[in-house]
Amino acid sequence: MRSDEPSEDLLKYQGRHSRTIWPAADALGIEVIDQTLLPFRFEIRQLRSCAQVEAAIRTMVVRGAPLIGAAAAYGLALAMREDASDGAMATSIAALRASRPTAVNLGWALDRMHRILRHAPPAQRFDLAWREAARICDEDAESCRAIGRNGLQLIDPIARRKQARVNILTHCNAGWLATVDYGTALAPVYAAHDAGLDVHVWVDETRPRNQGASLTAFELGAHGVPHTIIADNAGGHLMQHGQVDLCIVGADRVAANGDAANKIGTYLKALAARDNEIPFHVAAPLSTIDWTMMDGVRQIPIEERGAHEVTHMTGLADNGELQTIRIASPGSAAANPAFDVTPARLITSIITERGIVKATAEGLSSLKVFA
Ligand code: MRU
Repeated sequence: MRSDEPSEDLLKYQGRHSRTIWPAADALGIEVIDQTLLPFRFEIRQLRSCAQVEAAIRTMVVRGAPLIGAAAAYGLALAMREDASDGAMATSIAALRASRPTAVNLGWALDRMHRILRHAPPAQRFDLAWREAARICDEDAESCRAIGRNGLQLIDPIARRKQARVNILTHCNAGWLATVDYGTALAPVYAAHDAGLDVHVWVDETRPRNQGASLTAFELGAHGVPHTIIADNAGGHLMQHGQVDLCIVGADRVAANGDAANKIGTYLKALAARDNEIPFHVAAPLSTIDWTMMDGVRQIPIEERGAHEVTHMTGLADNGELQTIRIASPGSAAANPAFDVTPARLITSIITERGIVKATAEGLSSLKVFA
């Protein structure tokens, strides 16, 4: 499927099928879904310059590691239309790279674009970049679809053994909205649901930005997957009482030793899963593996976001307007580390487009053989 064709595979929103990012019809920019407004409003934003793409990543209009990478690739392409000189290319790459620090797909996509562009004459750079960005999108969609197929192999035996509903816990949003299509952690869920398995998802609300309650719940609902939103602190209790069969989460960066960075709170879920002998899987494409880091806990940079996200919440008021209100005691300091790193020893397996591997240096490097 080409990047400008809508996906027919997932029901998205009010019968509308689409990817999360696509070239605008006039080819003067790209279009994305404004994720800051979901689940209350479904609005498309046009991004027509590198600066607009950089701002969309920084303000989380687009978010999720694979989608950030795809957006950055298009951002660089748009920069090449404005000014294709070496200097402008370096400046744009630096600006895009700095927009979010933890998701490695961002740097991965920019490095890939740079390799294609650096020896090309400036006059050809925009066309080359536009095509490469589209390829990155197509490949991400294909990778996520394969992650779904592979992850289904973990859910299916549980369904057969249990002969009852399979309960899957996920944290944050690692679905269609976090990628170009299908998702990472949710791709196996969609594959299982579409294969007729009875699956139900416990959706961690994922404070402080509530990507679970707003985005994961939204897209599972649009696809008809049974799900229940829970407070972030409820997971351990549900695990203790046999109400979780497996956990599947996404990742923003997986170090070469198998440590995996994901939305803040993931580590605590992995600890609770280990204490209750529940499988804890991380789903991620190869573009999320950082082969340069051998110790994720020590080396993965963790984005510190504004205290405002902790002290305030945004939601729909009774008058139908989106409103932001303070929920914390005025005057108290608040800290907001946006990600944490789950040590490899707590991860049962890593589900990739190339197969399911152990979260170890050996497991991950077995994927490299085919790279
Ligand atoms: O801060 P965000 O919303 O960009 O966080 C990224 C995520 O959605 C998660 O950490 C996710 O589980 C991994 S990205 C597929």
